[in-house]
Amino acid sequence: MLRIILTLIITFSIAYSEESLGKRLFIKYSCGSCHDINRRLVGPSLIEIAKRYGKSEKAIERVARLIINPQPSNWPGFAYMPPFKIPFEEAKALARYVLVEAPEEAKKEKKKSIEEELDLELQMH
Ligand code: HEC
Repeated sequence: MLRIILTLIITFSIAYSEESLGKRLFIKYSCGSCHDINRRLVGPSLIEIAKRYGKSEKAIERVARLIINPQPSNWPGFAYMPPFKIPFEEAKALARYVLVEAPEEAKKEKKKSIEEELDLELQMH
């Protein structure tokens, strides 16, 4: 019984935790030290990577392979990304974050800042 309750608690906390597995891995592996969602840092921005590959399942698998085994010739003018020897499932979660979740996050942020600006303008008039 206790085990069932524990399993339920864990399942719910994973389902309702705000951050996806991909985002948590992105933080765990410090990908953010070289990649920002919107801006170029050492590596290309997540938005420009997402634009290049799209959001399909096939794209997610392709990018997952590139995270494990980077091909610097895909991004001339950038430094080399270090290979990440991680399980394919983790690489896929990361790729899903890069291609699907991060661009959605950016869109939401943008909408929020436009709404805040509009609010401010309304207050001033
Ligand atoms: C030390 C800096 C650095 C770190 C850390 C880093 N990257 Fe990169 N990344 C780069 C650079 C530079 C490029 C472009 C050149 C290349 O692909 O080698 C790149 C390219 C990429 C690409 C595009 C691959 C392609 O071939 O189109 C993806 C996707 C990516 N990174 C995801 C990640 C993820 C996920 C992590 C964390 C697990 C990560 N990066 C960590 C520097 C980094």
